[in-house]
Amino acid sequence: MSDTAVAPASSDAPAGVAAVEVVNLRKEFIRKEKRRFKTAKRRRVPAIKGLSFRMERGETVAILGQNGSGKSTLVRLLSTLLLHDGGEAYVFGHDVFTEARAVRRLVNRVSVEASFFKKMSASENLGYASRFYGMTAGDTRDRIPEILERVGFPSKRRGEPMENLSRGMQQKVALARALLTSPVLLLLDEPTTGLDPRSKVEVQDFIREVRTSHDSTVLLCTHDLAEAESLAERVGILDRGELLMLEPADELKARYGAATLEEAFFAATGRSFEEERAEDEEDDDEREVFA
Ligand SMILES: Nc1ncnc2c1ncn2[C@@H]1O[C@H](COP(=O)(O)OP(=O)(O)OP(=O)(O)O)[C@@H](O)[C@H]1O
Ligand SMILES: [Mg+2]
Repeated sequence: MSDTAVAPASSDAPAGVAAVEVVNLRKEFIRKEKRRFKTAKRRRVPAIKGLSFRMERGETVAILGQNGSGKSTLVRLLSTLLLHDGGEAYVFGHDVFTEARAVRRLVNRVSVEASFFKKMSASENLGYASRFYGMTAGDTRDRIPEILERVGFPSKRRGEPMENLSRGMQQKVALARALLTSPVLLLLDEPTTGLDPRSKVEVQDFIREVRTSHDSTVLLCTHDLAEAESLAERVGILDRGELLMLEPADELKARYGAATLEEAFFAATGRSFEEERAEDEEDDDEREVFA
């Protein structure tokens, strides 16, 4: 797909510098607890509790965790959308919190809550994003239809307003948008959630292709264990803000004598992968920060 995306952004990082290096990273949120007849009480709730890990250039790491385990918070921190409460994080040697501009040039995030101009079409949204990244109309005239095709977006719907498209279709446009600029670090927060099985496979194939053809490093948060196993060299288990393991899926399974990743997850956390969190841990309290 070398002709479907711009030349990869350069990380300018010397050899040996990690694509991602996270050291004792912490993030807390203030949660307001509604109490009857009393003023709301504020409580600091840790979402990321001292994470440390390293990713090499070109590596794909999948992060598994139950709802609320901190996956999206980690992705938001690394994409400079949230401030941290302690520790350090570097992307190709750039400090995520003091060199945010440099980091933003290297990182692209695809999340389930991707936002678009709803009245504009997929092509128009991608066109707008590409100008934002300094690409000219000439750069993108062929590239936008090509990249939409690669993610399996039907060509006849390119001109339709985004608000008419299903969530799965919108997800494909979000992925295409992230790949327009060939990010060096791709942060994928549940990129295939809500897609039908065929679209899921198309998107997974595309992620594989981008990795190999663009030397991208991929951090993938997913609720799909098979996806984690087939796409990632290493799998991390995030449990209530703590990274319990980060190793190849086979080693993870062998460690617990587990036949499947699901069994290994259960053995590591004491909880089943799709188990709902207890009521008092649910995140429907009022949120103070939106990012
Ligand atoms: N902006 C916010 N304000 C307050 N609390 C937040 C905020 N964002 C996340 N949290 C809390 O931080 C914790 C981690 O949330 P996060 O969204 O990172 O989990 P997740 O692993 O991505 O979950 P899911 O699988 O449901 O997407 C949760 O307890 C959540 O309620
Ligand atoms: Mg999430």
